[in-house]
Amino acid sequence: MHFSTLISFATISSLLYSALACESCSGSAKNLHRREAEGGEGGEPGFTYLGLTGPVDWNQFEGAQSCGDGKSQSPINIESTMKISAYGDVGEYADIGATGFNFTNTGHTVEVFYKGQPAVLGGVEYELQRFHFHTPSEHRLDNEWFPMEVHFVHQGRNDPSKLAVVGLFIDTNEENTSDPMMARLATLLQSIEKPGETVVATHVPLSGVRTGITGAKKFTYPGSLTTPPCTEGVSWYVSNTILDVSISDYKIFKRVLGYNSRNLQSGPGQQNVVDFAAQFLPSVANRVASKKQKRTARRFSA
Ligand SMILES: *[C@@H]1O[C@H](CO)[C@@H](O)[C@H](O)[C@H]1NC(C)=O
Ligand SMILES: *[C@@H]1O[C@H](CO)[C@@H](O)[C@H](O)[C@H]1NC(C)=O
Ligand SMILES: [Zn+2]
Repeated sequence: MHFSTLISFATISSLLYSALACESCSGSAKNLHRREAEGGEGGEPGFTYLGLTGPVDWNQFEGAQSCGDGKSQSPINIESTMKISAYGDVGEYADIGATGFNFTNTGHTVEVFYKGQPAVLGGVEYELQRFHFHTPSEHRLDNEWFPMEVHFVHQGRNDPSKLAVVGLFIDTNEENTSDPMMARLATLLQSIEKPGETVVATHVPLSGVRTGITGAKKFTYPGSLTTPPCTEGVSWYVSNTILDVSISDYKIFKRVLGYNSRNLQSGPGQQNVVDFAAQFLPSVANRVASKKQKRTARRFSA
């Protein structure tokens, strides 16, 4: 019963610690962030998942204020009582053939730039742009996390400002087998272990994904990109189909990805976690000061 209290206290403490530490950030460090943000390939600035340039600081990037004050941020804890996408979602998600698509280590994830597959999600026509991986999972399902999560990023066919992302959890299993896509990509991953490296991914079977997207129950909510600029207005669909990954394939992904998972956000419409933590800064500072005064007072009266 104290468990969740402890977790949220730990989360807030670490946020506060980073935020406090960042008050002494020099202007040049902030400028560096901006420069990297502008130079970032495909809107991917020089953010990290760790410490002062981690998620508590993402709102420092140019145009990324939503990361720190948005009220529909992702990822979240998916509850099995949440709204389910209407059946009738369709999509091609055809196997990747001999021509292939770039599979790139972007430094933040490994991503297949598989563009052009049509899909209809929630009655809106989209086109697949790319898919990439996170370890551990960003979303949770009834508070359970998974070793990995894959995100299929779609753009509106008629309105390119519309974004939809389908997430599938990936887990190890008793049989120690891999979904065919995971097995193929694990092999290819061994040639793109360093940021900036690209290999052409050919012959990637997507049968598990097709079923997991078009034939499965999907929880849907309005959220955001899980990396800066944390743009909102993203329609999320989190599948309840879990892809298999063998232990050895998982270890290949984990070795290359390290850790690339944003911390859990509050539910849609609720206060941003960074914003929430920041409101305690003055009181924390006062509390520290008053403790110091009490200690001083005690020392003098003793
Ligand atoms: C694929 O990657 C190569 C090497 O990084 C690059 O030169 C090429 O433009 C990329 N192709 C596409 C279609 O993005
Ligand atoms: C899982 O399978 C791999 C080969 O794919 C094997 O090397 C490994 O020992 C297996 N692990 C377990 C726990 O069965
Ligand atoms: Zn993602």
